[in-house]
Amino acid sequence: MRKLAMQGRVWGSSAAATAALIVPLLCRGRQARRLVSGRVSWRQRDGVCGVSASQERTLVEFEEVNGWPQILDRSWLLPSAATKTTEVVGREGDWGSVEGELPGSCFHVIRDDLLHPIMGGNKLRKLDALIPLLQARGVTDVVTCGGCQSAHTAAVAVACAEMGMKAHLLLRGERPAIPTGYNLVAGMYGYVTYIPRSEYADRQTMLQKYAMQLAGDPSCVILLNSKLLTESSAPGNSKRVAILNEGAGDCHAILGLIRLVNYLSQPSRFGNQERLRIVVDCGTGTTAIGLAIGIALNGLPWQVVGVMLADTQEGYEKQADRLLSEFSQEYSAHTWEVDLCQKGSSLPILWRERFQPRKFGRILPGEVQTCQGIARETGILLDPIYTLAGWEVANKLCHGTGAGDGEVVLLHTGGTLGLFGLAQRYPLQF
Ligand SMILES: Cc1ncc(COP(=O)(O)O)c(C=O)c1O
Repeated sequence: MRKLAMQGRVWGSSAAATAALIVPLLCRGRQARRLVSGRVSWRQRDGVCGVSASQERTLVEFEEVNGWPQILDRSWLLPSAATKTTEVVGREGDWGSVEGELPGSCFHVIRDDLLHPIMGGNKLRKLDALIPLLQARGVTDVVTCGGCQSAHTAAVAVACAEMGMKAHLLLRGERPAIPTGYNLVAGMYGYVTYIPRSEYADRQTMLQKYAMQLAGDPSCVILLNSKLLTESSAPGNSKRVAILNEGAGDCHAILGLIRLVNYLSQPSRFGNQERLRIVVDCGTGTTAIGLAIGIALNGLPWQVVGVMLADTQEGYEKQADRLLSEFSQEYSAHTWEVDLCQKGSSLPILWRERFQPRKFGRILPGEVQTCQGIARETGILLDPIYTLAGWEVANKLCHGTGAGDGEVVLLHTGGTLGLFGLAQRYPLQF
């Protein structure tokens, strides 16, 4: 057995450990098929562009990895990891308060929002391995939770229904006067229960209580971590109830993100040589952390830029520690080990605030109009809670002072049905 050893961060800042490199960045196989609209243009990722960048990179030694790709040899929800990429050039109005725009600067948008009409975006990536895993273990019922307009709960409901399982969705707060957006979808595909906020505050107790009620026997309740998936249910009880964390914040969700990184690192996509900064808007942080684990496992010179929307940096680092340790425990039976799987802070992630931080879920005046402008100019629909935050950071990175630090890629995390709920809460903004 050989193991992946990673000393220090690829994107580390220790002066002693860094060496200045001049790396020609070549985006191979891309043909600039530009569709220009006013000051904005975008092109499909099938053309050529060349960039040079001076970059500092920690010298790391990788022993050859043997075996870990086998964990990707499994059943998936998505038939393929393939996704479309759109390149955005220029800016319209106030896309993230960028100053000193460099003509021709651009970033790429990974159009995961187009993967599925409801489950699109990071939800599907997180469920990509998880749902088949549950199905293979004979799970009959899944219990999970989220906010009233949770895209995660709606995605779980759709995926479970498609795979012959029942989804029980514990939604925080009260039933809305008019069900719409993800709330409506959740109720159409799954079984919704509204939970008082005081009870919801202790999510683990709440999830376990509801799962127990459903299963009627503790041995039929399956937790997804600590290898409990293999536990057998009581004889005579046909139910096997699995608890899925809020936002699929679970180590098995990481597999789908690793699969995406593998796909993106193919020569026909971004390759494995260029520096890349992948911007992701974060709720639980699972998507950003999963991508970073995929990057580290592949030894790629990439970095995730996680835009913190629902927690502090400390909270996200704790989440990275937890997921990393659960992930290495769960998958250590495979023929690989990862030295870096000890500390979340050694992952290639830069956590950063959104431009105008606020309490999670708030929108500021003018943000709906910004989303509207971007949709009209580029054909890419964003929402002001999540994806606009990522867009602003991507735009800033590719136009700002670190513009030469590698290509900027925004993962479109989907979530556009959330606009329906927002329109109900803030009708005058639409
Ligand atoms: C549109 C959108 N972006 C980002 C996120 C946050 O993802 P994560 O919880 O993996 O950080 C979510 C929630 O799943 C979402 O719906």
